[in-house]
Amino acid sequence: MGDHDISKVEELLYTMKVEDVMAGDTIVVDPELSMAEVKQLMDTKQITGVPVVRGDRMVGIVSISDVIGALEKGQLLRPVKEHMTTDVKSVTRDTSVIELIKNLGRRGFGRLPVLNGEGKVIGIVTTGTLLRSLLTQMEMSYQKKEQEKLQRYRASHIFEDISSDDTSVVLRYIVDDRDFTNAGKASTMIKKSLQRLGAQPPLVRRVAVAVYEAEMNLVIHTDVGGEILVTIRRDRLQVSTVDHGPGIENLDQVLQPGYSTAPEWIRQMGFGAGMGLANIKRCSDVMRLMSEPGAGTRLDILFLFGPGGLSGAAGLPKKS
Ligand SMILES: Nc1ncnc2c1ncn2[C@@H]1O[C@H](COP(=O)(O)OP(=O)(O)OP(=O)(O)O)[C@@H](O)[C@H]1O
Ligand SMILES: [Mg+2]
Repeated sequence: MGDHDISKVEELLYTMKVEDVMAGDTIVVDPELSMAEVKQLMDTKQITGVPVVRGDRMVGIVSISDVIGALEKGQLLRPVKEHMTTDVKSVTRDTSVIELIKNLGRRGFGRLPVLNGEGKVIGIVTTGTLLRSLLTQMEMSYQKKEQEKLQRYRASHIFEDISSDDTSVVLRYIVDDRDFTNAGKASTMIKKSLQRLGAQPPLVRRVAVAVYEAEMNLVIHTDVGGEILVTIRRDRLQVSTVDHGPGIENLDQVLQPGYSTAPEWIRQMGFGAGMGLANIKRCSDVMRLMSEPGAGTRLDILFLFGPGGLSGAAGLPKKS
């Protein structure tokens, strides 16, 4: 096991709870049962300890060593209540596994009953149930990782196979004006697509920020919304937003950081700092803003991948 696997186990210990590692349908015994009957139960069920329950409440725990003790004293026909351990540590279903392990390790606590708020036994944890659950979880996260690796591999091959510049993947999203409920959805979807295609996280972040700002501008500043087009080529990613009005009078002016025409009610919502276009410029390699007043606006944002392609050098943070 490499370092990575060890930290995965640690992560699991800290995130899993007793309910994830306990055995659900627990065998319990009545305090009036004889020790001989308990012995037989342990034999047939292949267990070494059982919670003792009166009514709905746990009153103790009886283990194989209590059975041996009774046997040695010739008291196998005496009731469980005379041989059980009454000083029992228990846990609840949301006790963390790391806490559980501290207690399980202690002498005499080979198993811990899980109690609900009313003191009723709802499960039991042993080193066995703990180990089995941990292995299952490890197996699951291992399989997930393998699957992700495969996906990344496939994706990077798609791009290796793209040899000519005119091959490209195009994604298209419609954005409605004033639709604040769905605002941000396109950038989230584009982000996910890039992740699926195997893009490096730093590139994904740059694209996500730029596209979010561009998408918000469609929501906030257009009359009838617009669309976002994403073209992915072997060496570049281009995001274009296109709308049909109202257009921009003075391009130089709107490119000044801090300039905004957002009305008061938009500013109330936290937008309109006049930083969107500046942010897009900062995140991208090339930004082009074109507009015709009365006709519409087009914004092209370009991300160049460099030598490693989509999953390579483009992921490196940009020098400012
Ligand atoms: N698609 C568009 N159509 C018309 N005007 C636009 C469009 N996109 C941007 N603008 C104009 O450019 C200005 C500056 O845009 P920018 O994104 O930098 O700032 P903002 O949207 O006003 O505020 P912020 O982005 O910080 O919330 C806007 O206030 C608006 O006047
Ligand atoms: Mg903006």
